[in-house]
Amino acid sequence: MSQDLLKKAAGWAALDYVEKGSIVGVGTGSTVNHFIDALGTMADQIKGAVSSSEASTERLKALGIEVFDMNSVCELSVYVDGADEIDHQMAMIKGGGAALTREKIVASIAKQFICIADGSKRVDVLGQFPLPVEVIPMARAAIARQIVKLGGDPIFREGCITDNGCQILDVHNLKITDPKALEQKLNNLPGVVTNGLFAFRGADVLLLGEEGGVRTLT
Ligand code: A5P
Repeated sequence: MSQDLLKKAAGWAALDYVEKGSIVGVGTGSTVNHFIDALGTMADQIKGAVSSSEASTERLKALGIEVFDMNSVCELSVYVDGADEIDHQMAMIKGGGAALTREKIVASIAKQFICIADGSKRVDVLGQFPLPVEVIPMARAAIARQIVKLGGDPIFREGCITDNGCQILDVHNLKITDPKALEQKLNNLPGVVTNGLFAFRGADVLLLGEEGGVRTLT
């Protein structure tokens, strides 16, 4: 089965977690696009969505799903999103699609984080996938120097401007054995908007698309 079909299977499986009449938190990426397509079949049974990116907002609206401003929503029952890597403690690296900041914001008001991914995303140790760090442009070089001191190799993602008007450094060659400690350290650097480690707010449920079907891990 192709990787995309495994993503699709995981995306559609997440429909089981959507409560009728609710507002659903929606992430960003190719796996989430499958979830959004699935959600479209329930468009008349949900109240709407809070979206984590302009791209997801456009796709949701095209399917007739109302997108709410997060300021008008107190809590979400579920937030559904993909991951670039997820470890056995359900900590993740996210942000390959540059939407990490809004993803972390929307996830923060959800009771449950449902991660949807194909089997290749599950790892023993995070860090093989370069860790995205969103930065205020004027701070980029200063932050890059600090990241080198922390043992990483930051590469500027040229030509990428986030939905928040900021830039991304992709940090290579990290072996992240303590994701919470690194998430905190990076957040403390002046000019860092968000880093792609989701360790404090990890996933509650992982729907993993594999050859034999979708495996549910909690
Ligand atoms: C978007 O910024 C990311 O956090 C995505 O959720 C992550 O990169 C997973 O993307 P895919 O579903 O496209 O693999």
